[in-house]
Amino acid sequence: MAWPIFRTEGVTKVYDTGEVQVHALAGVDLTLFAGELAVLLGPSGSGKSTLLNILGGLDRASSGHVWFRDTDLTALRERGLTRFRRDHVGFVFQFYNLVPSLSARENVQLVTDVAREPMPPEEALGLVGLSHRMDHFPAEMSGGEQQRVAIARAIAKRPEVLLCDEPTGALDSKTGIQVLEALKDINDRFGTTTVVITHNAAIRKMAHRVVRFQDGRITEVEVNETRLAPHEIVW
Ligand SMILES: Nc1ncnc2c1ncn2[C@@H]1O[C@H](COP(=O)(O)OP(=O)(O)OP(=O)(O)O)[C@@H](O)[C@H]1O
Ligand SMILES: [Mg+2]
Repeated sequence: MAWPIFRTEGVTKVYDTGEVQVHALAGVDLTLFAGELAVLLGPSGSGKSTLLNILGGLDRASSGHVWFRDTDLTALRERGLTRFRRDHVGFVFQFYNLVPSLSARENVQLVTDVAREPMPPEEALGLVGLSHRMDHFPAEMSGGEQQRVAIARAIAKRPEVLLCDEPTGALDSKTGIQVLEALKDINDRFGTTTVVITHNAAIRKMAHRVVRFQDGRITEVEVNETRLAPHEIVW
């Protein structure tokens, strides 16, 4: 876990909504290391999603810098940012965003058809424990299974980073733990740098490092000397 994969310096984000300006990020300096699993905690509105979206190139900082390795994302034009996203980043969101009319396999294929060196959809689904659900449609799967399809879709292009915004937010604890086990397994196997935003403080125990947010700033970064496996976490 030696070298930085992301580094932010003085990142701010101001949303201008016409009447009021919202200062979503008020100067964020953060380094994320290759291969780590980081959990981002903080109250609602503290800026977690805003930062994640900027790291993933879905949004832009208002000021400051964001480096992905040696590339300053804030200097990229739209096309460069799109390429960065496509080549390097997998996203997992709270609501799985699967295409309802496509099977699990076909949902993953949407990504593998356009990725540079993807794994076969069957392999990606196998990695999240869904070999037996390949031909099921989203409506035929549990929330946890649908989220695991979303994870398979995100990892099938072999991204270096996996950015997860409340991946268990819509799940009960049992299925949530299965989803977290899948994320941990990907991180262990491939060394995919993984960022998990959560409201559930118990989940911090599976992280290498825990980053706490408040009012658009990082208030604390904590290293876990010992980690728990998701199935050992009680919530
Ligand atoms: N598109 C937007 N336009 C205006 N304000 C926004 C926009 N997106 C976020 N905000 C504001 O920026 C602040 C940070 O929002 P953000 O979504 O990053 O918080 P969060 O920590 O992810 O919260 P939650 O835990 O509720 O998801 C909030 O005050 C929010 O209202
Ligand atoms: Mg959020």
